[in-house]
Amino acid sequence: MISILALRAAAFPRSGMLAAMLLALAAGPAAAADIARGGTLYATHCAMCHGASGTPVMPGAPNFRRMEALMRPDMQLLTAIRNGKGAMPGYFGVLRDREILDVVAYLRTLS
Ligand code: HEC
Repeated sequence: MISILALRAAAFPRSGMLAAMLLALAAGPAAAADIARGGTLYATHCAMCHGASGTPVMPGAPNFRRMEALMRPDMQLLTAIRNGKGAMPGYFGVLRDREILDVVAYLRTLS
């Protein structure tokens, strides 16, 4: 199964993304971000400043409805959320890294 996908990805480079997604699914739920859980966590911890739909309600907070605000790798966003930035508190000890990555996956659905 995996070798067939790898062969397909090599033969048709544009299907590499699909193969990667299938591999992520094959690896099981633990490996894929849980967008629904991210949305629940966002509503609880982030919406009071970033807005229920990603349009900020606090001055200075980035607008998640714009693509540019999130044009950075997940790991950079994770670090900012974990450590805090400017007026934003750090979530280290509040959210596990796995949960923060679920929220980041949810943020990417807003734009
Ligand atoms: C108290 C208000 C507040 C809360 C709560 C809050 N943020 Fe923020 N957030 C901000 C502000 C203000 C900034 C801009 C910080 C700066 O650039 O100085 C920011 C920046 C960010 C950034 C961009 C970081 C970067 O590197 O530029 C991300 C991503 C983010 N917040 C995600 C979240 C997530 C996810 C949560 C919930 C877990 C959250 N924020 C909770 C106010 C908040």
